[in-house]
Amino acid sequence: MTRRGLFITFEGGEGCGKTTQIQKLANRIKSIVSIPFVVTREPGGAPSAELIRGLLVNGDAEKWRPATEGLLMSAARHEHVEQIIRPALAQNKLVMSDRFVDSTIVYQGIVGGVARNDIDAMSHIACGDIYPDVTIILDIDSQIGLARAKSRSAGEDRFEAKGLEYHEKVRAGFLDIAADDPSRFVVINANRTPDDIAEDIWQAVRPLLQACGLIGNG
Ligand code: TMP
Repeated sequence: MTRRGLFITFEGGEGCGKTTQIQKLANRIKSIVSIPFVVTREPGGAPSAELIRGLLVNGDAEKWRPATEGLLMSAARHEHVEQIIRPALAQNKLVMSDRFVDSTIVYQGIVGGVARNDIDAMSHIACGDIYPDVTIILDIDSQIGLARAKSRSAGEDRFEAKGLEYHEKVRAGFLDIAADDPSRFVVINANRTPDDIAEDIWQAVRPLLQACGLIGNG
């Protein structure tokens, strides 16, 4: 099936504000143009993938080995890709996902120690040819982000419980992969007000929406 549409992913450590920012971006797009878009998330985003999410985000921090986490994340992703993302892109929709394959590369690969070629093999099965066009990384001080995530915790705190040192490695991991591929990643300083962050995201996303004809050049 021909791949069209535009696929934007949002990544970053705990409490970096991804969910708020995706909503702000969706509202901004909605206020200027009527284009079909999908807002989704990982792990999850499809009913069967949400079942796997429950296994991953609840319970004891050490209950899964990093490779098991990677396999479960990838299994959830495969359902998400095939049920939600691929069909939406094929219909020329804009897809915005709160986390995707880069979270596995960082959390299970760089931080968890699963070899990159194993992560890539899992991702190949999970995603096939579906890959983000652009990835926004919201970079926040790990201590501030973790405190924020803990204060609003809805019980899904298994990753938060892995501690500050783990989350500092996550932050560094995202910055490292972004430095390796500046053509796909945009790193945004998220230690600022939601409106300032939203403005930077808009400046990064607007040219892409224009380039693929989803919004006008005005
Ligand atoms: P969330 O808090 O952004 O909803 O994500 C839940 C947790 O899952 C978060 O701590 C990051 C973790 N995660 C991974 O470790 N690997 C992955 O591939 C994904 C998608 C999430």
